Amino acid sequence: MTLPSTYVEPALPQAVGPLSATILDVLHRSRPALHARPIDVPVCEADPYGLDLQLALYVCYELHYRGFADVSSRWEWNPSLLHVRGRLEEVFLGAVRRDVGEIGDDETAAAEMEALSFEPVDGDGPSYYLRDKGTWEQMREYFVHRSLYHLKEGDPHAFAIPRLMGQAKASFVAVEFDEFGAGRGEHVHAHLWAELMDAAGLDTTYLGYLDDVPAGALASVNLMSLFGLHRELRGAAVGHFASTEITSSPGSRRLVQALERMGAPQPCMTFYREHVEADAVHEQVVRTDVVGDLVAREPHLDRDVVFGIRAHAVVEDILANHLMDCWRDGRSSLRRPLG
Ligand SMILES: [Fe+2]
Ligand SMILES: [Fe+2]
Repeated sequence: MTLPSTYVEPALPQAVGPLSATILDVLHRSRPALHARPIDVPVCEADPYGLDLQLALYVCYELHYRGFADVSSRWEWNPSLLHVRGRLEEVFLGAVRRDVGEIGDDETAAAEMEALSFEPVDGDGPSYYLRDKGTWEQMREYFVHRSLYHLKEGDPHAFAIPRLMGQAKASFVAVEFDEFGAGRGEHVHAHLWAELMDAAGLDTTYLGYLDDVPAGALASVNLMSLFGLHRELRGAAVGHFASTEITSSPGSRRLVQALERMGAPQPCMTFYREHVEADAVHEQVVRTDVVGDLVAREPHLDRDVVFGIRAHAVVEDILANHLMDCWRDGRSSLRRPLG
C-alpha cells in the first residue's frame, strides 16, 4: 500500500491574511539556506487572538512537530523564521498576560489548583451544553476543533521534560507515559482519538481540519507550544499541564454523558471514559508530585505556575465562547461547515 505524502507530514494550510500569507509563501517558495534576512510582516496591526496571527504561529510551531509535506525540514531552525515567530509570540503572550492580569504576591499554585478541583454541577460551557441539549452534529464539530490537539496529545507538554528535575520530572513523565499509551501503540491517546474521529465519520488525518477551525482552536494548541518551547516559561508549561489534567476528568465525564444521551458509537465513548479514570489519578500526581516538587525546588516559579493555569482558562474561553455564540444562534462553529 502506498501511503499519501501527507500521511506523516501534513499539507500546508490556505492563507487567511497578510501574516499567514507571508509565512506560507516563504515556506512554499524559498529555500531556507537562502533566507538570512528578516521576514517582513505587519505584526503590530495584528489581532493577537485573530485567525491570521494564530494560523501563522501554528505553522511556525508545526515545524517542531511533524513539519509539512514539500517544505524543507531546515526551516525549523531558520533564524529569519524564528525571528518572525518571536514577534508573533510577543503579541500573543502580551495579550494573554494582559487578560490574565496581575497575580498577587500571596497567590499560590497550591491554592489555584485547589480552586480548580471544584467544578460547578451546572456551568455554561460547551461540555455542559453538549451534555444537556447539544446535537450529534455539534458534538462532531467539537471533535473537529479538538482534533488539532488530540492528534498530537501529550506532544506540546513533552517539550518541558528536559527543563525539569527530580520528582517533578519523574512524575511528569509518568503522566505523559500514559498519554503515549504506556508502551502500547494502540493505546496512545492520539490513536484513541483517531478511532473516535473515524467512528464519528470524520477525517483522521493529522491536521486534516487545519483549514476548517477558527482562531480559538489554534490558540489553544499554540499556547501549549509557546510554553513548552521556552525554558523561561517552564513554570507556565507545568501550570498549563496541571490545569489540563485537573479539569479533564470532570469535563470528560460530561462528554461521556453527552455521548450516551446521543447514542454515539463506542470508540467515541472509549476515549472520554479513559480520561475520566486516568485523569482522576493524573490530577493527584500532578498536584503533589509535579507542581509540589517543582515549587519546592524553584520557589520563584510558583507564580508562573499560577500564570500557566490562568492562561489556560483565558485561552480555552476563546474557543468556548465562540462555540456557545455559534450554537445558540444555530450556526456552524467551523469555518467550513461539515458536509
Ligand atoms: Fe490523554
Ligand atoms: Fe491525563
